[in-house]
Amino acid sequence: MAKPKRRYVCQSCGSVSSRWQGQCPDCSEWNTLVEDAPQTVFSAKHDLSSGGRAVQFVALDQPIALPQRRKTGLAEFDRALGGGLVPGSAILMGGDPGIGKSTLLLQTAASIANAGGQVVYISGEEASDQIRLRADRLGLGKAPIQLASTTSVRDILTTLGSMDTPALLVIDSIQTMHSDQIEGAPGTVSQVRGCAFELIRYAKETGVALVLVGHVTKDGSIAGPRVLEHMVDVVMSFEGERSHQYRILRALKNRFGAVDEIGVFAMAGQGLEEVGNPSLLFLSGREEPVAGSAVFPALEGTRPVLVEIQALTVRLASGATPRRAVVGWDSGRLAMLLAVLESRCGLSFSSAEVYLNVAGGYRLTDPAADLAVAAALVSALADRPLPSDTAWFGEVSLAGEVRPVAHSGVRLRESAKLGFATVHGPDGAVEKVEGLRFSPIRLLPNLVDRVMSGA
Ligand code: TYD
Ligand code: MG
Repeated sequence: MAKPKRRYVCQSCGSVSSRWQGQCPDCSEWNTLVEDAPQTVFSAKHDLSSGGRAVQFVALDQPIALPQRRKTGLAEFDRALGGGLVPGSAILMGGDPGIGKSTLLLQTAASIANAGGQVVYISGEEASDQIRLRADRLGLGKAPIQLASTTSVRDILTTLGSMDTPALLVIDSIQTMHSDQIEGAPGTVSQVRGCAFELIRYAKETGVALVLVGHVTKDGSIAGPRVLEHMVDVVMSFEGERSHQYRILRALKNRFGAVDEIGVFAMAGQGLEEVGNPSLLFLSGREEPVAGSAVFPALEGTRPVLVEIQALTVRLASGATPRRAVVGWDSGRLAMLLAVLESRCGLSFSSAEVYLNVAGGYRLTDPAADLAVAAALVSALADRPLPSDTAWFGEVSLAGEVRPVAHSGVRLRESAKLGFATVHGPDGAVEKVEGLRFSPIRLLPNLVDRVMSGA
């Protein structure tokens, strides 16, 4: 048999060379070529028929045994998960340090343990006493959680192997875990991936629901490899401004449910409190109407949330480059909206600094926010407050048309419920809501007229 040829694969671009070189001939990266296993040569007929096992095919219409979800007892957590924890699933809980991940999971663990489920909580970050102190402060000191402080995945799996399978296993955090099978310090890509792989395999084999806490780096991705996000079934993100009280739990990926539901919590002295009706949450103390403030009935999943959008414009002496700063919204979208206001409505923002803020530390992703942002901007530029009992929604196109958006009925009903008298939105088939005046807007210049006339 001929000796198999050596081959070298570039770790950066994946191209294959037959000899080692210092620089990859394809992507020009240096020192990226690594010797790889020789290429397997299949026979021309792809005949691999010996030594394999038959794959079982299933019909699509076979009855499905749906996994029985377990309620965590925290309705907001269950909602974000799509109805509770799925046994055997792996959940990655990401979030900035100090945002409240450990607190949320301790409360969840206590709630399940108090309901009779077995819960194992492993912390690699805090000593057991520290966690017990926190539990005591949260009034959960009596919850029968099995708590341990360790960083060794081997020790964890050995221990779990000799006890009854728990309902929930919390690992806080995956970046502190260490496997002696793998080289490298905890937190390195290979350690994080290897430890997660072992723990997820345990979860799949035994049916325990596994929650891995993962820290987030400055750029917002979960520290360690992106591959972690592919390995788990659910990726959740716990968000909020640390200076604000409110925390939002969002699913970024969910193999068992929708990803558009959010859970809302408030961080209080007694831990995280659930906010069942978040509608008014983000309307910061609005008493006197001020220029540059507009209310937007946003939709998070199936739930309406009224948020206040604040804009500020500052005239600049000519020549300086004006700043645009955005908190809670997409800066590209703001640039687009400013361009549309300039070219379709003749308003000039080019010599003004523009600041845009979504109140309460909320991050808007709903495309229907355009009209409310435009209303806030026009109101700020003209220094004319909008009536405090009006709300605005609709998507704005580059041509300056106000486009219909989904769920307008829900937005209107929620606005009416919270005492708003008028809602401005896209023209179209909109249901009538009692006690509310719906005022359709077709084009952006109409919005400018309305703001100027104080309608
Ligand atoms: P923590 O759960 O430790 O955050 P993470 O695990 O995401 O790093 O929460 C830490 C913050 O929460 C801390 O700054 C204090 C605050 N906190 C409260 O305000 N009230 C409480 O009851 C608790 C337990 C924490
Ligand atoms: Mg923590």
